[in-house]
Amino acid sequence: MATHPPLPGSGSWNRRHVIDSASLTYDEVQEVLRTAQSFSHILSRPVKKIPTLRGKVVVNMFYENSTRTRTSFELAAQYLSADAINFSVSSSSVKKGESLIDTAETLAAMGTDAVVIRHASSGVCQQLANYFGDRMCILNAGDGYHDHPTQGLLDLFSLKNRLLKNHTDDLRGKKIVIVGDILHSRVARSNIHLLKLFGAEVHLLAPSTLLPMHIEALGCKAHTDIEAALHDADVVMCLRMQLERQRAGLIPALREYIRFYSITQERLDRFCKPDVLVMHPGPMNRGVEIASDVADNQQLSLITNQVTSGVAIRMALLYLCMSTPTERSGLERLQSSQFQGSQSDQSLQKGVLAV
Ligand code: CP
Repeated sequence: MATHPPLPGSGSWNRRHVIDSASLTYDEVQEVLRTAQSFSHILSRPVKKIPTLRGKVVVNMFYENSTRTRTSFELAAQYLSADAINFSVSSSSVKKGESLIDTAETLAAMGTDAVVIRHASSGVCQQLANYFGDRMCILNAGDGYHDHPTQGLLDLFSLKNRLLKNHTDDLRGKKIVIVGDILHSRVARSNIHLLKLFGAEVHLLAPSTLLPMHIEALGCKAHTDIEAALHDADVVMCLRMQLERQRAGLIPALREYIRFYSITQERLDRFCKPDVLVMHPGPMNRGVEIASDVADNQQLSLITNQVTSGVAIRMALLYLCMSTPTERSGLERLQSSQFQGSQSDQSLQKGVLAV
């Protein structure tokens, strides 16, 4: 198996769980980004595998649909040589009424080291983390309207890589506009916290029925008018317009939403900075919240890059949560010496990198 560029120093990470964005410190996020940067080199190799988490078991428990998050967590675990299982909720004993805790306890009893969970109820990840403590890592893959921390982290990673020359710089002076259904969006909440933590000026744009009350208490500016919101924007982050909102009466008609809020090339040209970037967490409704030509324009769209970043960020989080600082510092010393070609002990070359 291949080695990879040395991982960053052990730093301040001391968590077994990733539950939300708001509680992450600046130093912790920097450590995730640095670790992801190191792992990102593996993604462009013919053999995308290192033995870092060999012998560990990661189970994906997705109670809601997902393409990007579930697949990227599965690939991230596999690239680190962990065994990755997709637990199928629809064909499991959940359908016979088994509780979430009992289901997770069953997985723990089989030797699971980490559970990645997506669930419609806000707070279930915290509940599992409280219950399991250090026994099993819990990673939030999106809980209700609460948080989607790995999405926020991958968005920050993509943005910093594209926007800043130096990855250690912050986003001070950058105007970032989040457009769409803010009210129901866990992605918006994650991004607000992380973008603010890195000094960005965060603006929100939506019809008033899709803006939560008191959202400005999070330190951002809310708008209902597109021109004011997009004026001189550096980045426009579109959210998926959840079609059920029209049925719930929160928007009069999808056609009206498109007329006032859809992100089109003409609107970007008219209101934003000339080198504006566009992001979308996916899945997209082309022609609704984002015009197809904008989504596909590689000059300004970060959408594919966000997906790739998701694998590197999830590798970083699995690695950081599933190893102790002592294990990491040993591994980092070893990888550093291997990378520099200064380690001659053959036993070290034979895969004793697993933490
Ligand atoms: N962005 C995101 O969470 O996508 P999935 O629902 O496909 O995982």
